[in-house]
Amino acid sequence: MEQVRLGMIGYKFMGKAHSHAYRDLPMFFPKTAKPVMKAICGRDAQGVQQAAKQFGWESWNTDWRELVQRDDIDLIDINAPSDAHKEIALAAAAAGKHVFCEKPLALTLADSREMLQAVEVAGVKHMVGFNYRFAPAVQLAKKLITEGRLGQIYHFRAWFLQDWIVDPAFPLVWRLQKEIAGSGSHGDLGAHLIDLAHFLVGGMTEVIGMNETFIKERPLPSSMTGLSAKGSNDAPKGPVTVDDATLFMARFESGALGSFEATRFAPGHRCTNAFEINGSKGSVKFDFERMNELQVYFTDDADDVQGFRRVLATDPSHAYADAWWPPGHTIGYEHTFIHETVELMQAIAEGRQPVPNFADGVKCQQVLEAVDWSIEQRRWVRIEEL
Ligand SMILES: NC(=O)c1ccc[n+]([C@@H]2O[C@H](COP(=O)([O-])OP(=O)(O)OC[C@H]3O[C@@H](n4cnc5c(N)ncnc54)[C@H](O)[C@@H]3O)[C@@H](O)[C@H]2O)c1
Repeated sequence: MEQVRLGMIGYKFMGKAHSHAYRDLPMFFPKTAKPVMKAICGRDAQGVQQAAKQFGWESWNTDWRELVQRDDIDLIDINAPSDAHKEIALAAAAAGKHVFCEKPLALTLADSREMLQAVEVAGVKHMVGFNYRFAPAVQLAKKLITEGRLGQIYHFRAWFLQDWIVDPAFPLVWRLQKEIAGSGSHGDLGAHLIDLAHFLVGGMTEVIGMNETFIKERPLPSSMTGLSAKGSNDAPKGPVTVDDATLFMARFESGALGSFEATRFAPGHRCTNAFEINGSKGSVKFDFERMNELQVYFTDDADDVQGFRRVLATDPSHAYADAWWPPGHTIGYEHTFIHETVELMQAIAEGRQPVPNFADGVKCQQVLEAVDWSIEQRRWVRIEEL
């Protein structure tokens, strides 16, 4: 398959990131199957029409059901809030379309399992949007682990810190409503950490967590998009029904120990998605705010030069880097989505499943829900219980 014809639902934060990726992909990865931006869907006619023009989509509409039925579309890309993922994915699979869905895959583990079953029964390709895997520095960490260069892994410790809702006057956007978002920092930020842990260290056996909602009521929003919104202190208030912060510990199947912290209440941290991995032969450290770098330490360095070294993952030997700029000319957030869509297009062209796919989405959801159980029941929960 030399081209994949796309229909996309949702055109704000993720819709824009995905649209940008589809536009850039053919220029930098010309050997990859070409994404053809057929149609974009949103509920507001004026808004979606403007987005279609601005982002470069051939057509637009306001009803995703029509989009899913179109004969000239091969893949449905879901960038609507999390409560809409399941219904759209099931309809897309039933119509024989490949499905690319943003994370978290669904509101619940049961829903995510239903989605996985639907795409498997339909025999279509499926992918879930864990884009941080695709930072070249993260791929380098994976390579070092896979090649045994860090030895036996003892620790995975990760933290995803943001600060965009510290102000109590920040309004009650959909991300703070359980029925739409599923959970708060846990499913939004923690889901990325869990996926990185699965990618880098493997499956978990048991977890125990704690969480908190620091601000219990917020003004209702007058408008919202992405991570920003407008509200007013005079506006009526509604309850926040998700966690502001969730922390948990985990044991991995490999015997490694994990600790995870996801919070939207860390002033000064705009998007600190970070991890550190310690093994018998060395350690690595990654922080998304310096996403081109991986800090690497090897125990067998000579005594007098031991220490973390900063590796800039922009050389042709690093994943995806040879498609971009000369070494040292760094890349950004949007490139994680371009690399993600390269994997999606390549997998469809080669007739294999992309990675990460809905099975990875389910695996992540299982840990999310196990942590929720552990918090409710105040005990360690084994992953196999779910
Ligand atoms: N991979 C990441 O790092 C990342 C980052 C942010 C969000 N997300 C995920 O992406 C999804 C979307 O989040 P966002 O930040 O882009 O949200 P957003 O609020 O910026 O945009 C949501 C879009 O969905 C549209 N929409 C909502 N309901 C719809 C419906 N029934 N039919 C058609 N369109 C509909 C809205 O009009 C809007 O265009 C969420 O699941 C979120 O968890 C992932």
